[in-house]
Amino acid sequence: MKFIQHFFSILVGTAYCSRKFPPGFKFGAATAAYQIEGAWNISDKSESIWDVFSHERPGAIVDGSNGDVACDSYHQWRRDVEIASELGLHFYRFSISWTRLLPNGFTNHVSEDGKRYYSDLIDALLEKGIQPVVTLYHWDLPQSLQNLGGWTNPLIADWFGQYTRVAYTLYGDRVKTWITINEPVIYCQASYGSGLHAPGIISIGLGGYLCSKNSVLAHAKAWRIYDEEFRPKYKGKVSLTNQLTWFEPVTEDEQESADLALQLWTGIYAHPIFSEEGGWPAELEKRIAEKSRQEGYPVSRLPPFTEEEKEFVRGTYDFFGFNFYTARTTRKAKAGEEVGPWPFTGAPDLGVVLSVRADWPRASDWIFIYPKALRLQLSWVKQQYGDVDIFILENGIAGHDTDLDDQYRVKFYRDHLEQVLLAIQEDDVKVSCYTAWTMIDNFEWSDGYRSKLGLYEVDFEAPARTRRPRASAHYYKSVIKSHSLDVDINNKITDELYNFLFIFRVRILILKL
Ligand code: BGC
Repeated sequence: MKFIQHFFSILVGTAYCSRKFPPGFKFGAATAAYQIEGAWNISDKSESIWDVFSHERPGAIVDGSNGDVACDSYHQWRRDVEIASELGLHFYRFSISWTRLLPNGFTNHVSEDGKRYYSDLIDALLEKGIQPVVTLYHWDLPQSLQNLGGWTNPLIADWFGQYTRVAYTLYGDRVKTWITINEPVIYCQASYGSGLHAPGIISIGLGGYLCSKNSVLAHAKAWRIYDEEFRPKYKGKVSLTNQLTWFEPVTEDEQESADLALQLWTGIYAHPIFSEEGGWPAELEKRIAEKSRQEGYPVSRLPPFTEEEKEFVRGTYDFFGFNFYTARTTRKAKAGEEVGPWPFTGAPDLGVVLSVRADWPRASDWIFIYPKALRLQLSWVKQQYGDVDIFILENGIAGHDTDLDDQYRVKFYRDHLEQVLLAIQEDDVKVSCYTAWTMIDNFEWSDGYRSKLGLYEVDFEAPARTRRPRASAHYYKSVIKSHSLDVDINNKITDELYNFLFIFRVRILILKL
């Protein structure tokens, strides 16, 4: 049967190829340290802001849980590597816990235990032919640095730079793809805008913007350190990754509100780095400065960049990191209408109200499913920042799975991967890789263990945190193996498709004769 299928795949040529990913396109899956490692106080590791937040405010996590043990990947990492290999991943994206490597937050003491943990993990991946893709900051700031102001203190750019230098020095010979910071929009705007994430500080319209500026500078610092000190010998790639929520106008005449929301969500972190001119998106900067003035502030709440800072940041990328989950609609607020907080139900600084369309199924508190938005968002990036190489570094769906047959997740991946193919083939967007979030169920921040996003289920009651593949894991594995979407979950090119293509081809041959 395989031989016949192969023969016809040559016969049907283009039709079959159109469902194929380009040669060299890579597939991966991702996790993050606080969400999987556990071992929160082992050896000399110190507390991160998530350790403190979840211990001191258990009420802030829906099920009162924390990441003390999580998936116990600190002990079970060999099983994680085995899973990455079972899936056939080309790369595995994980993050380094700053406090596991540098218990003081500073570089005066590097933990032997932390050093060894990540080194072993990297070696084991490479032994299986899987590339490690390493995130340097996935939200677990050392509490010791938070006590000094954390991301609102401008000195954090230096502290972060020093930490990244240690990581490049230890692992740069083996790690060729680095992600400096993960989704600043969430740990700055969503966090300071609501207090729902660590450090649990509410500072609407102030803390978030300070954090934005310092994050952009910290990223640039980390990129420049790599560029100057490590790139010549290691030849790797470094960038940040943003979460991109798609915004579309509720009606055509509301386009301006969607454009503004896209700039406030994505442009704020992308424009300074990826645009030709650098700095904050101009219209955004103007509006926030004006609003700040009206409110009596002597300077804009969005701290301006100096010319020197603009230059320091501009061009500090080797790819465009792109995490994607969901979409919102936008419209201009009516006169006198109260606008909800950014980034939840509105953007008060822009007078924009957010909502969703009724036909976008709801997957969780915040994920509404709209696969086409992925293609639109990819094109938007190309239109805004040119033909940049896009790495999709997260995409996935939350559920409350009770069994392993997660057909809704299979559909989610298939529908989104279809949009990636369309973006590549029809819109000529340069996309080099795709990453499923997440490889295994884990601690889903303020949603605790309630939301499941894993290709593999984790039994959080079992001492070994047993992992078992869901239907979506089998599906994703087949996609990777065939490098195409023409697969069913048993890793076969679907019989229906073959029958269809066969009949189609035979008809054409008859017509030609
Ligand atoms: C984050 C992950 C998180 C996922 C699902 C992303 O924004 O990077 O850490 O688990 O969303 O909520």
